Amino acid sequence: PYPLFAQLREHPVLAQGDGRYVVSTYKEINDILHDPRFSSDMSKCYSKEDQRVVEEEGQIPGFVFLDPPKHDWLRHQVMSKFTPDLIYSQKPRLLEVVKEALDTRRNVQQLDIVDDVAYPVPVTIICEILGVPRSDEYLFHEWSDQLILGNDTSQARNPEIRMQTLKAIKSIRTYMADLINAIKRQPREGLLSAMLHDTTNEKLMSNDELVTTSVLLLVAGHETTVNLISNSMFTLLRFPEWLERLRKEPELAAQVVEEVLRYEPPVQMLRRTSLADVTIAGVTIPKGAPIHLIIAAANRDPEHFSEPDRFNPERKDIDHLGFGGGIHYCVGAPLARLETQVTLVELARRLENPQLIDAAPPYRLGASIRAPRHLFVHYDH
Ligand code: HEM
Repeated sequence: PYPLFAQLREHPVLAQGDGRYVVSTYKEINDILHDPRFSSDMSKCYSKEDQRVVEEEGQIPGFVFLDPPKHDWLRHQVMSKFTPDLIYSQKPRLLEVVKEALDTRRNVQQLDIVDDVAYPVPVTIICEILGVPRSDEYLFHEWSDQLILGNDTSQARNPEIRMQTLKAIKSIRTYMADLINAIKRQPREGLLSAMLHDTTNEKLMSNDELVTTSVLLLVAGHETTVNLISNSMFTLLRFPEWLERLRKEPELAAQVVEEVLRYEPPVQMLRRTSLADVTIAGVTIPKGAPIHLIIAAANRDPEHFSEPDRFNPERKDIDHLGFGGGIHYCVGAPLARLETQVTLVELARRLENPQLIDAAPPYRLGASIRAPRHLFVHYDH
């Protein structure tokens, strides 16, 4: 039941000794996510460590780290092409990819849910949606992992991680810039080509903006859903009655996924900085303070959710903050939901009597993302 979160919530806004603020209650986090006095642009904050993320190597931050009006314009450029129709049209292909992943493991009785299923499915789909060759995955896999780790302030003081992250940013940007140049010369299927060759759009993104935005989509598109699929399977294996129900009633998949997003959200924490002195729950946060919003704690807030520590996909109060909220609400939420639902239904259907091999699996490094690094499962045929 995460006693540390309960302890944190006793002080909705907690000043750390070093000038940082931690917010952990549902109402306060939700208010902050909808309040323009709080910025996602960490270069506006007084902490050098937090500024670092957006300053390195002249990297233009993806729009997740920008404020309006620039954020809104770039987000709109993506959203106008990344439509619900496009996402739902992926469903048959998605099922095929899940089946392929499971078929390659047909003759074994053991799976690593993370490496064998949860990673390959979203990476294949986002590559196909964007028009990035899936065969290049061996190139960008490590850079992308490194970017996620380097973006985590808990790792910011580690010079080795910092150096590796700089290298990874450079490599993935060069890769994407080359790909975009190739698509410029020769249009192809996919979102990148659609954005580059859009004749109806009066103002297209600059080359740099397109590189940054596509890196953001590629990284966010596969480094996050893997964790939702893994957390979902881990939770279902801990509460096998729900795995059994899902096997019999696949239409429960949507509710199961929403409840996992509340109960075990892959993204545990978001960052903001204040553009002015702002008082929240009686505490004045000074201008420029780095603020950590612990959405995983908000998702278990008893002031907002009844029986918050109970995994119950049938609950009515499911308005979790697992995809954030306000203007930065996750662009990929519909895709991530669909990918996870389809994968879970297929896993529930195919794995006979699945059992966790390690009840305490190894977890990923870093404080922002929480999910197992491996999840070995044994099953009958
Ligand atoms: C934003 C979570 C999947 C693309 C966000 C935010 C969260 C989040 C919490 C808000 C960030 C903030 O407010 O600072 C997740 C989770 C996912 C997931 C838990 C999977 C389970 C995806 C996928 C894509 C994606 C599949 C792309 C295809 C983005 C983008 C933003 C974003 C572009 C920035 C939106 C903006 O700033 O306006 N995501 N995400 N995400 N997500 Fe996701």
